[in-house]
Amino acid sequence: MSFDLVLLGGTGDLAWRKLLPALFQAFRHGSLPEGGRILGVAREAFDSDTQYRDWVALRLEAIEGEKRPTSEEFARFAALLHYVRADLSQPDDYAALAARLHERQADSVVLYLATAPALFASVAEQLGRSGLATPQTRIVLEKPLGHDLASNRAINASVLRHFGEHQVFRIDHYLGKPSVQNLLALRFGNTLFEPLWRRDTIANIQITIAETLGVEKRGSFYDGTGALRDMVQNHALQLLCAVAMEPPVNASADAIRDEKLKVLRSLRPWTAETLARDAVRGQYTAGQAAGERVPSYRDEPGVHLDSHTETFVALRTEIHNWRWAGVPFYLRTGKRLASREAFIVVNFRPTPHAIFRTPTDSANRLVIHLQPRDGLDLHLFAAAQAPRRPAAPATSATPLLSAVSLNMDFDQRFGAERVGAYERLLLDVLAGRLNLFVRSDEQEAAWEWVEPLLDAWAQAEESPRGYAAGTWGPSAASALLARDGYCWTEEC
Ligand code: BG6
Repeated sequence: MSFDLVLLGGTGDLAWRKLLPALFQAFRHGSLPEGGRILGVAREAFDSDTQYRDWVALRLEAIEGEKRPTSEEFARFAALLHYVRADLSQPDDYAALAARLHERQADSVVLYLATAPALFASVAEQLGRSGLATPQTRIVLEKPLGHDLASNRAINASVLRHFGEHQVFRIDHYLGKPSVQNLLALRFGNTLFEPLWRRDTIANIQITIAETLGVEKRGSFYDGTGALRDMVQNHALQLLCAVAMEPPVNASADAIRDEKLKVLRSLRPWTAETLARDAVRGQYTAGQAAGERVPSYRDEPGVHLDSHTETFVALRTEIHNWRWAGVPFYLRTGKRLASREAFIVVNFRPTPHAIFRTPTDSANRLVIHLQPRDGLDLHLFAAAQAPRRPAAPATSATPLLSAVSLNMDFDQRFGAERVGAYERLLLDVLAGRLNLFVRSDEQEAAWEWVEPLLDAWAQAEESPRGYAAGTWGPSAASALLARDGYCWTEEC
């Protein structure tokens, strides 16, 4: 099946960092369908395919370790690469691109908008007007899709004027991570947990996406964005959906997306009271990262000296449905935190009647590690072997149990077979599989939920709470759980 994969923004940051390396890995694994072309479209003054191939070679040669291509492999991969010089603000350039694609008549054409998000609506319009929205075409959009509900709707409206929803692939790269697919497999491919996955047995659920990096070279983009838009509206809410959704009727894209949508629509709406009580925003100050002194957020290049942009968010919410009523869900994410890890903690309720004691009165807990480790830890209690001759008379009639855990490491188990998030998502686009992509109504529901927070924070006079780089965020994030009698895992 022949394909034309068109990277609009073919020399941009996304193509450079993620897409071209992922396409090379797919090629190396033999997963790219035969008969394909990858067309990089940009304004750069490359005047031949060869110059574009040389530019891509620079990127792939910089890869360390086994993922770097040999020169023979690169030569074969490079044969797929072509360059189209175009200015995406010029209608004539779309016409030239259309002519180039039409002359080949590939079985499928993928238009990947790896451009500045501000261009999405106008590029989609131009693609449509130039006859590029044919039944064979798929369009791929990267986040951020808008900066609020209205701009998200405007982009979706422009795209959907020319393309059917089944042709639109909205990327949230967290959905491409093997660990996130494992979460769905854990819940819906096993009978073990599903009967326990509800309010009767679960006390609370905590979702953490922690990064140690700061804003890198993206200071000016990030300063107009913040953690709520950058991580919560998309990645964190998608994880929440995966953990809280009802079992879909089958594994089709719409069945899964219908269930995720129901979760988003059941999230407790924000009120003045919950906005003040259940949402914490922070901004990092100078501190340590990986043993090095790092500057405060406000001292990062491209960031305003008096910026109020949040680099950390912690939220408490609830899901208003029969399964979850009354169970708190805590979400937190931030830059320059103490470690780079993403995990979900499912805290079970204590036994209804205690005949044993457990260390620090803890209860069962399932930790779903998403990255860098992909695996599960199930924390249980066991009777440690009693000493043969007790050193001292027993002080309590209630025996103390010991904490033990069952650990599963999916990287170790499946290591060699694992496919990276972008590679997986690109292959799904080429195969026309929509399961791991976000539907417009889901995305709107997520924006709708975060919007009151965005508004409240935009109007707030006080700055976000400071936290030293290299810590777990402001202490108010701990207070959020402490009020309910809980704590984040690293504190318990
Ligand atoms: C991106 C955000 O969507 O996700 C970045 O824009 C963030 O700010 C990144 O660093 C995190 O992705 P990952 O896969 O490294 O956890």
